[in-house]
Amino acid sequence: MSVGRLVIISNRAPSVDGSADSGGLVVALKDALSKNGGLWIGGAADQVEEPAQTLRFHERPDFDVALFETDPQIYSDYYLGYSNSVLWPAFHGRVDLIDVQSRYASAYREVNKRLARMVAPALRPDDQIWVHDYQLIPLASELKSLGVKNRIGFFLHIPLPDLHTFMAIPDWQDVAAWFGQYDLVGFQTRRDLANMINIFRHALRGELRANGHIGINGREVAIGCFPISIDVEGFRQLAMNGAQSTDPAPLPRLIGVDRLDYSKGLPQRLSGYETFLANHPEYRSKVTLLQIAPPTRDKVQAYRSIRAELEHLSGRINGRFGTVEWTPVQYIHRALPRDELAVLFHYSRVGLVTPLFDGMNLVAKEYVAAQDFADPGVLVLSQFAGAAEEMPEALIVNPHDPHDIAEAIRTALDMPAAERIERHQALYAHLKVHDVAHWSAAFLKRLKKVDDLGLDRVARFPDLNLRLNAIG
Ligand code: ADP
Ligand code: G6P
Repeated sequence: MSVGRLVIISNRAPSVDGSADSGGLVVALKDALSKNGGLWIGGAADQVEEPAQTLRFHERPDFDVALFETDPQIYSDYYLGYSNSVLWPAFHGRVDLIDVQSRYASAYREVNKRLARMVAPALRPDDQIWVHDYQLIPLASELKSLGVKNRIGFFLHIPLPDLHTFMAIPDWQDVAAWFGQYDLVGFQTRRDLANMINIFRHALRGELRANGHIGINGREVAIGCFPISIDVEGFRQLAMNGAQSTDPAPLPRLIGVDRLDYSKGLPQRLSGYETFLANHPEYRSKVTLLQIAPPTRDKVQAYRSIRAELEHLSGRINGRFGTVEWTPVQYIHRALPRDELAVLFHYSRVGLVTPLFDGMNLVAKEYVAAQDFADPGVLVLSQFAGAAEEMPEALIVNPHDPHDIAEAIRTALDMPAAERIERHQALYAHLKVHDVAHWSAAFLKRLKKVDDLGLDRVARFPDLNLRLNAIG
């Protein structure tokens, strides 16, 4: 089958006029979308009481955008409810934060079913379909039940938890079955891939086959690991251009940039910084921590709580160590333009990326891309960020241990230039090859291969490790 258009489907849509294309995903997929003609289907920014029953099409010069509208109450139960109060906490290992409401589960199914009904008539037989992220896991199942025969790929941007955590989702077998309806399921890390294999085995009696596919009920699902990245050169250019017209920070600066999400480990990070200041009085008045944490999903209680906690902690540290001349923590609770972020990264001696669990974490990659080759800063990176699999030259920390964070901060600040340069060179060399274009090309190539191969080639390896290696 020839490759037709690329059809991307995600909960968030790119701008209809191309005006705000700075998001990594749009930049990554623009080329692929414009090559054979492309369509991006995403949720409308505003939900309306009487939503349109069909997609609303907008033509851009490079590709078309089609928006779907949803009734606001159903959207809220789908987005804030099931997506962000069930799947997000469960997939990030926070089963204590799961809020089970039957209307959430039904809204999630309803929105995906309705979206499938709108998407199906817009498809051509040779379109390649690529669905993104946890808000749309049931979409392939819904499209297939409407008779859609196209190959459908899915990429999970967030982590997939281990089997027992996954089983905390009340309808976990259904969720597993929805994954099983795709032709290719892509993950950020080998950790996630191994979890998927285990979940498929337990929920659906899935069997790993010699070709790296999983056999489920007589059909095959291809799975693979495709670590997402950023537009490395583009981000570096932003940093270099901005740095020419901006002065360096007056004190060596530590920087953190994260949505204000409980998965990002912000209280633990501040606690690590507090331990650092307590244990190393010689650094007081000599460094600052700039934490930029814009609001996100703030109608969900867990997000309100984390905001209150962070404000309390930053106030406490400033009260404990601050002086008239020196504020130890600067906290900004809003988003900044990307070019400003790039320069802030460039002029920060230490990048603190310490999530408790994260699919990848693009900030880690942006920080590295923005550094001065001749005088780079040091990345402190959580062992639980997907990025840690690819970035071993960072200072890897356990975000739950404030002493570990404190010592990494000290090591980073004291690190001689030669070691900083050596670590940065290794990190940058990897990123330069593994940028976001590499990511999308690898996924789409694999989806095309699945198409060319057809389904169902059976052969079994007895040893799971052997099989995992075959996939990795
Ligand atoms: P997540 O997708 O969970 O938010 P990532 O680190 O993978 O985490 O990606 C976050 C993206 O959002 C990065 O590109 C980052 O630069 C951007 N971002 C985070 N905080 C801000 C902010 N305060 N202002 C602007 N952009 C931000
Ligand atoms: C993460 C998720 C994305 C999501 C983004 C912003 O990156 O993987 O799917 O779009 O966070 O969250 P929001 O809820 O604002 O879309």
